[in-house]
Order: sequence, then C-alpha cells, then structure tokens
Amino acid sequence: MNILGLHIFGHDTGAAIVSKGRLWAIGEERLDRRKHSGYFPHLSVKYLLQAAGLNSINEIDLIVGVTRHNKEGTNVTVSSIRDELGYTGRIHTVSHHDAHAASAFCASPFDEAAIMVVDGLGSKSVEVETGKELPFSLRGLTIKEQKDREEVQSFYRAQGNELTPIRKDCTVPGYMNGLGLVYMGTSVFLNFGDFGSGKVMGLAPYGGQPGKTVEPKFFDVVDGVALTKSEKNFVRHNDLYQKRFFPDLPRRENQALPDDLYTEIAYAVQKETEDGLIEIARHLYRISPSRNLCYAGGVGLNSVANKKILDNTPFENIFIQPGACDSGIALGCALYGANFIEKEAPGRYRFKNAYLGRDYSEEEILEALRNTPNIRFTKEKDIVKRSAALLADGKILGWLEGGSEIGPRALGHRSIICDPGKPEMKDILNEKVKHREGFRPFAPSVLLECAPEYFDLNCESPYMLLIAAVKNDKQGIIPAITHVDGTARVQTVTKNDNGRYYDLIKEFYNITNVPVILNTSFNIAGEPIVETPQDALRCFMSTEMDYLIIEDYLVEAAGPKQLVRGPVADENKLKADDIRGGKGLKRWLKGLKKR
Ligand SMILES: [Fe+2]
Repeated sequence: MNILGLHIFGHDTGAAIVSKGRLWAIGEERLDRRKHSGYFPHLSVKYLLQAAGLNSINEIDLIVGVTRHNKEGTNVTVSSIRDELGYTGRIHTVSHHDAHAASAFCASPFDEAAIMVVDGLGSKSVEVETGKELPFSLRGLTIKEQKDREEVQSFYRAQGNELTPIRKDCTVPGYMNGLGLVYMGTSVFLNFGDFGSGKVMGLAPYGGQPGKTVEPKFFDVVDGVALTKSEKNFVRHNDLYQKRFFPDLPRRENQALPDDLYTEIAYAVQKETEDGLIEIARHLYRISPSRNLCYAGGVGLNSVANKKILDNTPFENIFIQPGACDSGIALGCALYGANFIEKEAPGRYRFKNAYLGRDYSEEEILEALRNTPNIRFTKEKDIVKRSAALLADGKILGWLEGGSEIGPRALGHRSIICDPGKPEMKDILNEKVKHREGFRPFAPSVLLECAPEYFDLNCESPYMLLIAAVKNDKQGIIPAITHVDGTARVQTVTKNDNGRYYDLIKEFYNITNVPVILNTSFNIAGEPIVETPQDALRCFMSTEMDYLIIEDYLVEAAGPKQLVRGPVADENKLKADDIRGGKGLKRWLKGLKKR
C-alpha cells in the first residue's frame, strides 16, 4: 500500500509517503528554496516518488490532504490534486487539526493517548469532518456563519487504529484570536514577522526585570479554551492587537534588543502562554485522563512551555514530533491514511528518528563536489575522529549526513556545529555565519546518558522541543549554549537514533571531557535549511564556516568565498499572506505557470 499525504494550501506545504512499511517526508521549502514555501508541492512529490522507488503518481493507492472549500462549497483540494498531479486514484481529505493530531499520535511511542492541538488557525468549521456530526457548538449555524469559524484548539483521544475527536473549539465572532494567534500577533508587533514566534521565545528570558514588567491580559482560559475578545485576526490586523494591549506604544521598528520595553512584552506573552497551556492541558486531562499526552500545532514548538506542561500537569509522558507546526501536516495526512483509513498495524510508523528525507549517494555527492569551484576535498578514513579534532580546535563545521530532518529544527543531519565551551562562539556564529539577532540562543546536542549531569532533564528530548536548566556547575563549561536565564533547548542524542552524529559527540567528549556540542541549523537567516549536497556547498561558500563535512568527505575552501553579509531574506517581512491566500495566491499561480 502506497499512501501519499499532501499539504497543498497555506504555508509550509509539503508531502509525506508511506510505502512498503517505510515513511519519508519533505517540505517544499527545502526543494524550492523559499522559506515557508506555500507553493503546490510538486518538487516534494517527485522527491518522494524517487525515494520510494515509484515511477508514477498513479502507483499511489491513496492520497490524503486537508479539506479546503471554495465559495460554492466544492472541495478544491480534490480538484487541485487531480489537476496538478494528474492523479486518478482515491483521495480522502481531513481537517487541518485532524492532520496535526494524526502526526502527533501515530508517530508517538504510545498505544493510547490524549491529544491536544493548539495552533494559529486550522480549517474552517465547514471543512471539519468529525466522521460523525458537527461539534455541538457549530450545530444550527448557517454555512455562512460556519465559514467565519476556524479551528483554534482541538482535543482528541486515540487508541490503536481509532482517532476520536472529543472536543473542538473554533474562533467565534467577537473572539477571533486564540492563544497561538495572540503569540503570533506579538511577533508581528515586535517586528519579527508572522514566523517570528521563536524569536519572541528567545527574547522573553531577558525580561521580567523588577519594576519593568508589563501585565496585559492577553487571553482568558475558560473551560480549557483560550480566546481573546477581538473582532479580527491579530496577525492580519495588528493595529487591533496594538489597540487592545498597548494603545500608547508604537509597534517596534528596529530598536536594539534586548531593551526595557519590548522585551518585557515578549516576557509577558511567554509567561501567559505557559500558564494558559498548563491550564488547557490540565483540562484535557480532566475530561480524558491518560498517562500520555501527544501534542501538535505550531504552539507545540514552544519548547519552554512544553517542559512546563510536562512538569505541571498529571500527564507522565509527552510526545511532540519535530514537525509540530504546519511542516508536519503532510506527515499527519499520510499517517492518517495509513492508521485510520487503511488501518495498518498500529505502531508501524512510530518515529524511530526525525530523519525522513532521502539519502544521497556517493555519486551524487562527488558530482556536487566536482561542480563546485574553489574547494578542496578529501575522503577521510575516519571522518568522525577528524571532525571531532577540528571541533575541539575551535573550528565551525557544516555537517551533512543521511536524510534530512522533518520540521524546523536541525538535529544533526543538516547542522552547523562547534565547541560550546568557547563563550565567543555565539557572537561569531551570529555575525559570520548565521547573520541573525545576537540575543537568540544556540542549542546543545548532548549524549543522552550524560544529559542529567549537565541539564535538569530526566527524559529524552530527541527533537530539541524541551528546555531544561543547565546545571549551575556546568554553565561555565558550556557558555555558548547557556541562555541568559541559565537554560538550554536540549537535543539528546543516542547511538540508535543518530548513528554517526552520536559517534562525533562521543569522540569530542573523549578529547575535551565535554559530551556536548553546539548545534544550529545549516542555513543562513531567511533561508530554508539545506537539503542537497549542492545546497550545503553553496551555503558553505557563502559564509565563514571553516570546514564542511558531507558524509565521509571533508571540504575546505581553496579560493575566495562569495560571502553573504546579511540574511538572504528579511525574516521580519515574511508574511503568511504573501505565500498563501490573497496576493500570495496570485503569485502562487504565476509561479506554477513559470514551471
Ligand atoms: Fe496548524
């Protein structure tokens, strides 16, 4: 059975496939090189068919996508898939939150779980198919009234091959923003753009200064639902956000951060989000108790809040897959098809690791190397030993190994790495390689068995989705990854899941007595993470990285680099609208014609 999951509308489009018991996934942005790409995922489909060894789209038995109705009530997801791909087989569509829920549960290690989905906005309520009747809150509404309502929070319960929606909450007129949109609205207010929530989270710990804090009430949580009184969406209508919360304060322009004002806003929204999510998760536990919580939706990338949910609710285990945001929607669609439609054996597509991209052959790597001017490359007998020695010597390495990671985090297959023991590394990386704001922290990869010695963490965090305090006596040993509040966004690494990346850290440990390396995504600010060896070489030759490792090959510059001196795109200007509906749709159609 070959099942393809597609995310074709919105931002972060992409595809995932289950075939012969294997799972692959890729985001269109990795291939078309447009950050948060909203283009139809043609390149992703081609990539996955190749990975699975299929020759034609019509070898796919089932495509699962997300329902999208046009004004006439026609499901345009189905017609788009047929038109764009020439696919004649079965198509099934589900709601946006159903896809998120499937991505969280089916990839999890659990046989049963309660599931929480919290994001900006999901499907419109007319597009929500519960498989039964409409949620109670939506009954009796006209189609037009339902169109004004969009998924904002959903609870599910799952066991084996059954996914049961137990509660779905939508925005309602007068309350058009949930917790995720308030957070995104804050990102826009702070001039970080629609996709700057991670920056808000990184800035927050600089706030909370005595006498300077701000305390707006961003949202109310009533019966486990967070909503804010508002007529319109705060991301699209940020003036309403301003009027509601900070009427006397202009939106941030380019003021240096951290400061005493905007930083306190980041602190306040983060704190209220953490408290709100704890309350929401506790409510879910009350109505559907389980030892296990699966959690998805863009808010699930808030690694600070995630650890607080784990620490402050009765749930004993939490699973969040690395594509918790919309980059995991296609994955959720494929897993929905396999588990809940075709009812393949439960647990079959549990995540073994996050590396769902395809491998690159030695021939492909050599071709990329030979076609890149001004480099010198050698095939190393022991690339791990050589790389660890370079890291210990203070060098910055690009590291490409195996298939790429799903989701926005680099987890050791498409990473830039260096020694976290050198305090100056943070500034060097920010200025010379990543070209991003100096206040943003870098994350550590640590051998799992050594994690409790260095961090206040007693569980695995393989996807860098939990924040933990760095132990007091270790903060001076790994300063480049210790954030201003003494925490770090930890990736725990095991031999089983991470192979060579584990060996590298172990070898670095042998040399330095520190089982931790600094790991940041292999890209420049504004650019998607690299996918192919060519992408990696291009990024390497545009930045002041010292060496590049592609599998067994060690690459260094042998001539001038064409250095990029700033972000390749202004992240502050990235708007979801530009790459999906409205104006973006026209651009999308134009882009299609060009291909
Ligand atoms: Fe979402």
